[in-house]
Amino acid sequence: VADLLIHNIGLLATPRWKDRDERVRSVAKIPGAAILVQDGRLAEIGSEAEVIRRAPRDVPRFDANGALALPGLVDCHTHPVFVGNRAAEFHLRNAGKTYLEIAAAGGGIQTSAHKVKDAPVEQIIAESLPRFHRSLRGGVTTIEAKSGYGLEWEGERKLLNALLEIEQRIPQKLHRTFLIHHLPASFADRRARFVDQVVREMIPAVAGHKLASWVDVFCETGAFTVEESRRFLLAAKEHGLGRMVHANQFGHSGGALLAAEVTARSAHHLEHLNEAEMDAMSKAGVVAVALPASVFFLGNLPYPPVRKMIEHDLRVAIASDMNPGSSMTASLPFCLTAAAIYCKMSPAELLWSVTLDAARVLDAGENVGSLEVGKAADVSLWNIPDLESLSYHFGDVRAAAVLVNGEVVWEDGDASRRY
Ligand code: NIG
Ligand code: FE
Repeated sequence: VADLLIHNIGLLATPRWKDRDERVRSVAKIPGAAILVQDGRLAEIGSEAEVIRRAPRDVPRFDANGALALPGLVDCHTHPVFVGNRAAEFHLRNAGKTYLEIAAAGGGIQTSAHKVKDAPVEQIIAESLPRFHRSLRGGVTTIEAKSGYGLEWEGERKLLNALLEIEQRIPQKLHRTFLIHHLPASFADRRARFVDQVVREMIPAVAGHKLASWVDVFCETGAFTVEESRRFLLAAKEHGLGRMVHANQFGHSGGALLAAEVTARSAHHLEHLNEAEMDAMSKAGVVAVALPASVFFLGNLPYPPVRKMIEHDLRVAIASDMNPGSSMTASLPFCLTAAAIYCKMSPAELLWSVTLDAARVLDAGENVGSLEVGKAADVSLWNIPDLESLSYHFGDVRAAAVLVNGEVVWEDGDASRRY
């Protein structure tokens, strides 16, 4: 990996690892900054004159053109490997059917599962790759990606293998998750059989073949019960896999309390969350992940009570939930605007939620999520004057340039994109 001097940065803004347990989110800001990258890592960060003085004379330069420099963003919850789309169901919902009604009638996740079942792995890879590229344009340099549309082991393995191949073809750092999403139709009258198979065969295979490092379960009415989810998460723990939960989306599913009970790293969605659930999560150190784009897209759910979560000392990350059913977007910047308006988060809280606190969800905070000496040189540059303006613009925001390990992996050539 080459060395690089990123100069002419209008403003650099970053959270700091040492502040990770502070109650109030603060942001370090350096106007007129530069960054020296050596061996793909951040070697010097400071005022331009200072960094240039310390840099080797002949180091190649990258002109940031006055941009705002932020850490590369972290999207800690996505379902990007699927085929086809569910536009028809989107319009059914808008005509009055609910997400749960569509699911109960055999649509929803099962619609995507049918399509995955019939698709060769090459097709799944080809349809999924552009979603990772769109995510990158939104500044994302670390992305979590779940399986979950295979349902049966054959399909799940196919999706995890697709992710292994995709990892080779994208510049982002990828975290793979095995998602236990829904009972397959073929097990409709053999529910207990399926649960046993997940615990005795699938989770051990995921761990044994290193297909994923995380296990996630959709703990909700119509998906899996608390008892079933507990068995999955305890099996994951036994096999050394990280644990996260889709919890409390459509009601008080028990998922948030279960996350605390099994010390999952994080619980996601949380549209319905009371004080007792917040306290339990907070005590157990479970990070709360809000997915405002899916609330926006489903149209009839409350936004998660983020201000209350913060009062209860919870760390809050924001993610896209990119998926064909409830959040058809790869744009993390869009999620920031939704979180600002509907979750009432401040610019500093928003920055933390898609950088260090999101990295914490993936246990990656020591390497990514902030611009600090020694960490990976994952940087996003924005033709935006200040941090406050990042969430203020919406719907058409993309990064001016993105660097991963000090290499420029995306550059927007469009001069009209100065926000
Ligand atoms: O996070 N809630 C469960 N899973 C996804 C939606 C899956 C789908 O509808 O395809 C979510 O919203
Ligand atoms: Fe999800």
